[in-house]
Amino acid sequence: MSIPEASLTPAQARAEHARLGAEIATHDIAYHQNDAPTISDADYDALRRRFDALEKAFPELAALPSPARGVGSAPAQKFAKIRHAVPMLSLGNVFDATEVEDFVERVRRFLGLGPETPVAFTAEPKIDGLSCSIRYENGVLIRAATRGDGFEGEDVTANVKTIGEIPHRLHGAAPAVLEVRGEVYMTHKDFAALNARQAAAGEKTFANPRNAAAGSLRQLDSAMTAQRPLHFFAYAWGEIVGPMPATTQHGMVTAFKGFGLPTNARMVLCHSAAEMVAFFNRLGEDRAGLGYDIDGVVYKADNLDFQERLGFVSRAPRWAVAHKFPAEQATTVLRDIEIQVGRTGSLTPVAKLEPVTVGGVVVSNATLHNEDEIARKDIRIGDTVVVQRAGDVIPQIVRVIMEKRPADARPYEFSQVCPACGSAAIREIDEKTGEADVVRRCTGGLICPAQAVERLKHFCSRNAMDIEGLGDKQIEFFYEKGLIKTPADIFTLEPRDKASLAKIENYEGFGKLSVKNLFAAIEARRSVELNRFIFALGIRRIGETNARRLARHFGDFNALRTAARAAGDPASDARAEINNISGVGNVLAEAVADFFCEEHNERELDRLLAEVTPTPMEAVASDSPVTGKIVVFTGALERMTREEAKAQAERLGAKVSGSVSKKTDILVAGPGAGSKLTRAQEAGVRVMSEDEWLAMIGA
Ligand code: IVH
Repeated sequence: MSIPEASLTPAQARAEHARLGAEIATHDIAYHQNDAPTISDADYDALRRRFDALEKAFPELAALPSPARGVGSAPAQKFAKIRHAVPMLSLGNVFDATEVEDFVERVRRFLGLGPETPVAFTAEPKIDGLSCSIRYENGVLIRAATRGDGFEGEDVTANVKTIGEIPHRLHGAAPAVLEVRGEVYMTHKDFAALNARQAAAGEKTFANPRNAAAGSLRQLDSAMTAQRPLHFFAYAWGEIVGPMPATTQHGMVTAFKGFGLPTNARMVLCHSAAEMVAFFNRLGEDRAGLGYDIDGVVYKADNLDFQERLGFVSRAPRWAVAHKFPAEQATTVLRDIEIQVGRTGSLTPVAKLEPVTVGGVVVSNATLHNEDEIARKDIRIGDTVVVQRAGDVIPQIVRVIMEKRPADARPYEFSQVCPACGSAAIREIDEKTGEADVVRRCTGGLICPAQAVERLKHFCSRNAMDIEGLGDKQIEFFYEKGLIKTPADIFTLEPRDKASLAKIENYEGFGKLSVKNLFAAIEARRSVELNRFIFALGIRRIGETNARRLARHFGDFNALRTAARAAGDPASDARAEINNISGVGNVLAEAVADFFCEEHNERELDRLLAEVTPTPMEAVASDSPVTGKIVVFTGALERMTREEAKAQAERLGAKVSGSVSKKTDILVAGPGAGSKLTRAQEAGVRVMSEDEWLAMIGA
């Protein structure tokens, strides 16, 4: 307890004012510059209040200099968001030579290339840093953004400008707009020196060079970034306006080099899977001596026309793939097994491990997947196990070291009830195969608190509603306090808090500022893109890609809701409509119908829609001549494969169907077309040749 200000002598007040000033300044630096506060906002606010009260009671103190008043202005609170003109995608992975061959084969098949036609691939190190998109207009660096969720990143322009090897002005004749993409990374040497400096200064050290690079690039104060030795390799691009600098991947990267951008000297051109794998093996041998972390090799089809034709599936290109180095492993002891309840009730066993460093990161949890996996590997509590982690994936248990098994280790018995709500936990039987699902699920549904919390976490997560300040910890806290039970409660939190005596700002870990920021973040999400909203609902089997498909198909939420309700009848047109959305199919259509036909969900949706407005979806290519048209391909195609034709049509916003009906808009018929052509002619469907189709879409 501190003495009331009025009872202090001037000397006491002066001493406390000096002490508080220094303490507040330390916390300011920890919070604003290091992103690592060491006290709660509430405690910080209390220090501030006392400091201000002292100055009020003893006005002479206010005239004294104090570090608590800050030197210069506080850095910005957070980064502005930037929408990528062209999304920043991720890569599919392969792990061995056979999978590399499959990748090459897949590319050839998709393009319909005969054995005589060569396809070249670039091979280059996969840098373990963080990707960044740098926009040049008329050769001048104007903007830089992190990848973020692939569609929207953070504005790190000021920070990127401090990276010495990134030119502020490109050399030579670059396109009018050039978005260069590549990896920001830190070398081993700089990483070790930075950690030594941090440790000496009593600051936090970083687990690995990638975290150090990410932490450095995401400094709110670019003066801090400037002190961190960051590097960059350019390997890809986003929007380009003006003539393309080259017609191949290799040529593009060479052009980047000519513009003065740093590129990786280890990139090579390969002409077969065997050459690609040989490069991978060579690089693996040289890996330790490179001076920076890599986690594999990236192969890319060299010819840009091929890249264009191959396009993307979901969020990864068909024309590129990452070949990952084998995972890093370590040995440790399994202390316990805990059951986690997912948002759909799935019970996942998690191994609690004696903490161990695997490939530079401390691991204390590993997934055990499901009960069959535990039985198959005969994993018991107390066992010594081999753990591995590869890239970003959750650490896994590879095997038990049997020689080290303690005498009292007993097989693990998987609970038949949900640990959170006590409801029966069952393994559903597949109607068709008669086999039990590998996953045991809690049957508690809406009464299970663990499922409710997980649904809330999913709702707020980055690729869903993306509500900043509502992370897993905060959600658990609000749920426990009874303040947020369902998604709609999030949006009524502020008025309820205003009316309540137990204000959130008074809870441990919160403060005036963080509560204000949280309410602002919630307010900002009252309007949200339709696809995010659908994904956020957590409908079983509806991930991001399918949410996007539904959003694109229905355009606005009410259209989806109406159709999904009607789709409760499996024989309805609505069910058929959802079923026919390219990529969706019957299992998903049923899951969508189930969700919207559930009475509780309906009620919660009404509450939620009173607070949140999903904005209609922008169609993929709303201006293409085939947007919204239902197209059927039949007969032999001569200019591209069926798969390619379908992907291209979908990219342009068309729906590709396998059968002709009255709803079909266009039938593209090649030589050998049979019954579909007849049916189309009977139904009065517009029929065209492959060439006519290509002319129409301007390909
Ligand atoms: S190409 C559309 N090349 O790996 C494909 N990515 O796992 C764009 N990465 O998000 C990526 N080195 O951050 C490419 N030489 C390289 C890379 C590379 C590292 C990262 C990149 C990407 C991630 C995908």
